Amino acid sequence: MDKIILITTPLYYVNADPHIGHAYTQVAADVLARYWRSRCKKVHLLTGTDEHGEKILRAAQQMKKDVREFVDEGAGKFKKLWETLNINYDQFIRTTDKVHVDTVNDVLTALYDKELIYKGDYSGLYCVPCETFFTSSQAEDEICQDCGRKLESLSQESYFFRLSEFKDKLLRHIEENPDFIMPVSRRNEIKGFLAGELKDLSISRLDVQWGIQLPFDRYHTAYVWVDALINYISAPGYLNDRHRFQSLWPADMQLLGKDILKFHAVIWPAMLMALNLPLPKTVFAHGWWTSEGQKMSKSLGNVVDPAQVAGEWGVDAFRYYLLRQVTFGQDGDFSQSRFRERYDTELANELGNLLSRVLSMIEKYRPGFSPSSPEGLDVKVEDALKSLDDLYIKANFSSILDIIWDIIRAANSYVEQSKPWILAKEDTEKLDCVLTNLFRVLRAVGWMIYPFMPASSGEIFSQLGVSPSCVDDIRWNREINFENINKGEPLFPKKQ
Ligand code: MSP
Repeated sequence: MDKIILITTPLYYVNADPHIGHAYTQVAADVLARYWRSRCKKVHLLTGTDEHGEKILRAAQQMKKDVREFVDEGAGKFKKLWETLNINYDQFIRTTDKVHVDTVNDVLTALYDKELIYKGDYSGLYCVPCETFFTSSQAEDEICQDCGRKLESLSQESYFFRLSEFKDKLLRHIEENPDFIMPVSRRNEIKGFLAGELKDLSISRLDVQWGIQLPFDRYHTAYVWVDALINYISAPGYLNDRHRFQSLWPADMQLLGKDILKFHAVIWPAMLMALNLPLPKTVFAHGWWTSEGQKMSKSLGNVVDPAQVAGEWGVDAFRYYLLRQVTFGQDGDFSQSRFRERYDTELANELGNLLSRVLSMIEKYRPGFSPSSPEGLDVKVEDALKSLDDLYIKANFSSILDIIWDIIRAANSYVEQSKPWILAKEDTEKLDCVLTNLFRVLRAVGWMIYPFMPASSGEIFSQLGVSPSCVDDIRWNREINFENINKGEPLFPKKQ
């Protein structure tokens, strides 16, 4: 059975409106999925929404809404945004889906039966907005280390997962699998964390009305994180379709933000070990976005709305900016002026202009010409194609874009140096060679930008009059002809 590449995103909390942070993970996942599909691999992109817990219930109550109606609306907002941003996902799971709830019950029963879950007393602090537990010594000022809000005291009976038992096994796995946690800085962070004491994890709470009740004690509700993490196996069919599950699991790439790495690189793998399931190949933690140099917050009014930016600048430009501006793994800042600069320089001038000037010259000088065996920028293009798989495995989007733009810039310089407008008068043989090289570059660039900017890629192909279906169709030596070129509107129109 062929293993399908499984790429996952976190499940987004439905109480807040989607913002640039959510769009970031989602676009990155979509770029990876599109690339591997374009390499003829089978891919499954899994995403969804996190809908249980006190935070969601309180938010619904504040809005005076029935909680089910509230979560439906919330999930709808994310789906709508993914459609706007051209996210081609394969599955959208909601933690309120029956199959998910049944899987959580099944998993918790199995862990209870294995005596990996036991009853005890929890006494400590809890952050409702982050749905995270803290001990008194971790937060002496009773302020949440993650969001800075006041913590609530909890003292109640609770069920615990024997997380501590997995410490050595986790450390060994991280040591033996250098690609398990990426980037390296995050891997070191988790190794440091595991070097300290690893406590058992409280996995249930009393008096939470909105969530999954523990199958072995209905007075307790499952901790939302345990509930949500299980989606990664409930969605592929752990409970209801073992065959499908085996073709999908383990995940190849689990993408998430740095704030939720511990859940994914400590708790989640320990749960998988407890279930005797293989661990994901890579858990990649990306950085955080600020807006114009400040933390995004509703009160500051600086939350970046992806739909609004995409409406103003175009979906592809937004997708490009997200992955161009920041090295994946590091923090980044969204700034209108930097957005404009990249749009004008890299998209409108460098890429858009290359397409437009090359097609104008072909139309003007060599309409209908079908040249043979030219030479030129071939090495750059072929080298780039060779390096892509490895860079995509590492989710190294910046290097991929660097390589593509290096080709675009080289092609623009080539136009300046070879001066086709003079060759048109003096050396038509050389002119044919130059225009052919440029056509080949554009065909390859159109293919290479596809994962990032699918619509622009389609537009380049349509203007060139080609319709490649796999990488072999855009290789340097694949035949070309100018007969079907169809110069259209600028790819990235200048904005006022
Ligand atoms: N529901 C949990 C995830 C459960 S996964 C089993 C959650 N949801 S979230 O909606 O708060 O966050 C979802 C993702 O958005 C996380 O990966 C988080 O890191 C990311 N971001 C939220 N704000 C962000 C920024 N400002 N910048 C970049 N990403 C950020 O956590």
